[in-house]
Amino acid sequence: MRIGLIGTGTVGGGVIDILESKSKSFQEDLGLTLELACICARTDEELAPFKAKGYTVTTSADQMIKDPSIDVLVELAGGYEMPRKWITAALNEGKHVVTANKALLAKYGHELFPLAEEKGAHILFEAAVGGGIPIIRSIQEGFVGSKIEHLSCIINGTCNYILTRMSKEGLSFESVLKDAQAKGYAEADPTFDIEGVDSAHKTALLASLCSRKHVDFEKIHVTGVSSITSADIAYAKELDCSIKLLGLYHASGDRVDARVHPCLVPNDHLLSSVNGVLNAVFLECDNLGPTLQTGAGAGRLPTASAVVADLVSLARSAGKRESIPMGWFQKNNEADLVPIEETEARYYFRFTTQDACGVLANITSILAKNQISIESIIQKDVKDPGKVSIVVITEKTKEKRISSAIASIDALESVSDKSQVIRFLM
Ligand code: HSE
Repeated sequence: MRIGLIGTGTVGGGVIDILESKSKSFQEDLGLTLELACICARTDEELAPFKAKGYTVTTSADQMIKDPSIDVLVELAGGYEMPRKWITAALNEGKHVVTANKALLAKYGHELFPLAEEKGAHILFEAAVGGGIPIIRSIQEGFVGSKIEHLSCIINGTCNYILTRMSKEGLSFESVLKDAQAKGYAEADPTFDIEGVDSAHKTALLASLCSRKHVDFEKIHVTGVSSITSADIAYAKELDCSIKLLGLYHASGDRVDARVHPCLVPNDHLLSSVNGVLNAVFLECDNLGPTLQTGAGAGRLPTASAVVADLVSLARSAGKRESIPMGWFQKNNEADLVPIEETEARYYFRFTTQDACGVLANITSILAKNQISIESIIQKDVKDPGKVSIVVITEKTKEKRISSAIASIDALESVSDKSQVIRFLM
């Protein structure tokens, strides 16, 4: 199988390294020849080390894609419009595609997957979600004998790293984010990580695979982690929970409940112990019960190893990989999403108020008016004169009651900061 690779950055470089180190064993153990036929990058400088090693190199992706001797395009450049153009061209040439580009697939998968099906080609994307965790293959093949009813996942290593270090070392959000960027975990635009966009791309793909409907990532509810403070982390510990940014999928009759937001995860839940840059996917299936898969979600070699696994899979089936048709991933098969207002959860509220008579009474009366039942309240001695933190835990409540109550509470003169709202994992 002759491979054309676009992108010699972190993951592209990792793919080249793995192919170099494992091609002999692929040949001897599996009888497969994976040949890196051409490497494409933007500049001659980027290509120079590979040219020096004897690889055929080019700065023209278009030319490489037109080369009839190339069987598979590996797209590891990132971004939207150029990869969309290259992948479309490769599929039109009948070539298979392997990509790690979750943003591209979440945005344009509905045109690329049907095109692949029409052309008898395949787009494999194991590296797009959960890096080193073979979750795409697990959903499409390993769990095919069960219906996936519920999925909760930690799929942004940057956020998990930030929340873990805030919790274990008492550090501020900003200082840990800088460190995550320096270590290369964060996206080029870190707002994609911390505002939950990267998790939404990946959750939409997983929810689509679970439901076999197109889940449009732009329509799912997304809240990131940038508003989580050290105070929330400390209260979470007191409640015997960890705060995690979760991607959630739930099969709700004919509808799909898919969303991304921080959750208070009880410390006895398997996801609570998934720390640092690790990713994890927790699934509940009808025939199988609960399962947890965890591993590196990003990084050079874990992500590259998922790309290489897709290449081996294509080579094994000599391009005739019929087991995972994706033609259903299209606009006219769009999932009917459960609106966030209709969802239910137990909630954590943290109100910052003046230290005055009747403040707590005002808050609880608004909650009562909105039929929100209180499970417990924490209010500590005042350390910062004039300001009080009141934490309220609710019983299970509909989201639409919460938004209207919080708007009324935030409008109170005695409430000084925007109130914090975090759902418990159900
Ligand atoms: N920025 C992503 C993360 C990289 O932190 O998980 C992998 O998609």
